[in-house]
Amino acid sequence: MTDETVAFDVENGIAWVRFNRPDKRNCMNPALNRRMMEVLDELEYRADVGVLVLSGEGSAWSAGMDLKEYFRETEAKGLGAVRKAQSEAYGWWRRLRWYGKPTIAMVNGWCFGGGYGPLFACDLAFAADEAQFALSEINWGILPGGGATKVVVDLLSMRDAMYHALTGELIDGRKAAAWKLVNESLPLAELKARVTEVANILLKKNPIALKATKDAIRRVGEMTYDNAEDYLVRAQEAANSHDNEGRKEGIRQFIDEKSYKPGLGAYDK
Ligand code: ACO
Repeated sequence: MTDETVAFDVENGIAWVRFNRPDKRNCMNPALNRRMMEVLDELEYRADVGVLVLSGEGSAWSAGMDLKEYFRETEAKGLGAVRKAQSEAYGWWRRLRWYGKPTIAMVNGWCFGGGYGPLFACDLAFAADEAQFALSEINWGILPGGGATKVVVDLLSMRDAMYHALTGELIDGRKAAAWKLVNESLPLAELKARVTEVANILLKKNPIALKATKDAIRRVGEMTYDNAEDYLVRAQEAANSHDNEGRKEGIRQFIDEKSYKPGLGAYDK
């Protein structure tokens, strides 16, 4: 199904969602931000979706916020319009950070500024070697807002974050992987196959455990060890109460049936 600003299709358990303003290098205008929230909403609880992949049509993943429509035209309408546009953008990034299914950013090309919000929101990220990343805000006279500063401080070393934000220089997919902005980088021609492979690994796992695990990874980073221990006990108990028979089945197949080894792969769902 395709709309002006967001395209998506669902195939074999994977929702392939694409920024779809290739002529504008997939920069995010208010219409795209509103539409993306609707698409995420539609896909989140569909039984035929186990993993969501976010990529871009054309040569860009996303060239960040739309400088004309998101900044200039919105600012011309006053502070209320600015706040509304911000909440629409931040809203779908937040929705994606806590999405019910695991998410993968497939960064096929340009990724700038505001694009770091959805990049970070995705649980995993794979980039083309040819992709180009930059915090270009400094090049047009603002600080990296909309969470972008927080993203690089959370993911990069302090020195790399500082260099990246102060210079606005481009880095390619390989360097983004070396800096841990993404999990891996590989030639563009191989990107989709690798992302499909990873998505298929996730599709074999218990979906309740996936959601509990991805939330736990994001939550415990801000906790003391003792708070994390407590949170994780409660999170597991909550997951157990979700009619999650899979966990017992996983133990049964290992201990009683001896049909698999949890150290070497997932049980048969
Ligand atoms: N905002 C608004 N329009 C944009 C944006 C953007 N972020 N990015 C690209 N476009 C538009 C261009 O204005 C152009 O429109 P036109 O065809 O009507 O003239 C069209 O997309 C194509 O862009 P080109 O610059 O011609 O494409 P090219 O492939 O040569 O360059 C590049 C791509 C490097 C991504 C360039 O478009 C660019 O620098 N874009 C801005 C990147 C950026 O700094 N984004 C803001 C980050 S800061 C933030 O998000 C808060």
